[in-house]
This record gives sequence, structure tokens and C-alpha cells, in this order.
Amino acid sequence: MAPDTGRVGAGRVGAGRVNTGRVVRASGLSRGFGDRVVLNSIDLDIARGEFVALLGRSGSGKSTLLRALAELDDNVLGSGELTVPRNRAVVFQDSRLLPWARVLDNVVLGLPGRDALDRGRAALAEVGLAGREKAWPKELSGGEQQRVALARSLVREPELLLADEPFGALDALTRIRMHALLRELCAKHTPAVLFITHDVDEALLLADRVLVLDDGRIASDRRVELDSPRRHSDPKFTTHRDELLHALGVFEEVTA
Ligand SMILES: Nc1ncnc2c1ncn2[C@@H]1O[C@H](COP(=O)(O)OP(=O)(O)OP(=O)(O)O)[C@@H](O)[C@H]1O
Ligand SMILES: [Mg+2]
Repeated sequence: MAPDTGRVGAGRVGAGRVNTGRVVRASGLSRGFGDRVVLNSIDLDIARGEFVALLGRSGSGKSTLLRALAELDDNVLGSGELTVPRNRAVVFQDSRLLPWARVLDNVVLGLPGRDALDRGRAALAEVGLAGREKAWPKELSGGEQQRVALARSLVREPELLLADEPFGALDALTRIRMHALLRELCAKHTPAVLFITHDVDEALLLADRVLVLDDGRIASDRRVELDSPRRHSDPKFTTHRDELLHALGVFEEVTA
């Protein structure tokens, strides 16, 4: 089946299953608000199973790019071509669980199939929350709520997982646990991932590829090949970190 690609008029995109090994294909993708251009003719492919981290200064357009890929950007001005799979999931910084639904009901909401509850229970077990099915979201910690959000996403076996600073509000120890969990889940379910973070180390611990968005364009696109398990003390890790901080303009600011 040929990719179902749409030429974009005012933020409309085509959506379809891609059989080429590329799950995301964006070409000349532009987005803006009023007369402000936020994304300026971006080309981006993401392969099946590839984990791509997206860095960039605040306001550089990371969420705008993610929202374009999630087709959540109906009101922006846009142009370019974009192909994304229909089966995709989005995780945000807050879990966005429905407060009036118990944990298992949150996970399976809208999930088709007679085995939906069983699949929901299995997904909760995968994220380490077996036994908490009947809890209310407010009874869970922030990290536990994010694990429910991951279970809710992955139970749908998405071809594309879009994550906008999903661990940004968590404490350092919980983040370390979430990194290990996310790597494990991605290795098992092999979605293509676009993961926004402000944290260069987080990007280097998780991603196969790290992009830096600057001035509406992808200013840096690097493949990250590090020995497993990845360690901050690895000299190659340090080199990547320095170069990424440079691409983010951090050194210039510190020394200016
Ligand atoms: N709905 C909107 N209406 C008008 N301008 C918007 C809208 N959404 C985003 N913008 C503008 O687009 C630019 C990029 O915003 P975006 O949220 O994509 O940045 P970001 O890189 O995700 O930033 P942060 O790291 O702070 O989350 C910003 O200047 C923002 O003010
Ligand atoms: Mg953002």
C-alpha cells in the first residue's frame, strides 16, 4: 500500500500506515501563528522502532512540531507534506488521566475488543502497577500517574509515540526509573518515538537520534551510538553532551 500522503493547505495532513520502514515522513513542513513562522520548511523522517529525542530552547517550536505530527494543530497556518500513521499515541508532561475514572478504566477507555480489560491489566502490569487497577488517579503519585499514561498509550500498540516532556515534572530518582521503564517498553513494542525534552542527558540516555530545533529549522541531527548500558561517565557521552550544549547555544551564553 502506498503511503497516504496529503499536501497541506492550512494545517491539514494525510494519515496512513507507512510500509517503507519510515513511520513519519515530513517534507517542507512549515507552521506559523499570525505572521510568526515557528517551523520553517522542516524535513524529518522517523523509522519504525527509532527513538528520536528533540531538544531546543523554550519557544523554539518543539511542541508545535509534535502537535503537527499528532494532527492536533488544526488552527495553525501550515504547508508542506506530512505522512504519519493513524495509530499513534501522545504523552504529555501531566498524565491527563480522567479524575472520575479508575486507573484501569482510564487505560482501556475507547479501546476496542472483548479482551480490552485483560489487555489493560497486562499493560498496567508492564508498567509495574499490577494491583492498582481500581485506584483513583488522585491516589497515585506523579510518577505512577505517568506510568498509567504510558500504559494507556502502549496498550494501543501505537506505531508512533509522541511524548512532550513526559518526565519533566518528576523528581530525579523517579525519572531514572522511568528512563529504564521507557527503554524497556520501547524495545518490546518498537514504536517510532519523538520525545521532547529540555534535558540533554535524558536525550542521550534514551535516544537513537537527537535533533536540535533552532530558528524554525533542525539545526543538528545526530545519531547516538553508545555502549549499553549508557553511562554519563562514558567519554563518548561527554563529547555528545558538549556538542549538543554547543548547538543549543548554552556555552555561548555562559561565557558571554
Ligand atoms: N496557539 C498558539 N497561538 C499563538 N502562538 C503560539 C501558539 N502555540 C505556540 N505559539 C508560539 O509558537 C512558538 C513555539 O511554541 P512551542 O510551544 O512550540 O515551543 P516549545 O519549543 O515547545 O517551547 P517550550 O520548551 O517552552 O515548551 C512560541 O513562540 C509560542 O508563543
Ligand atoms: Mg513545549
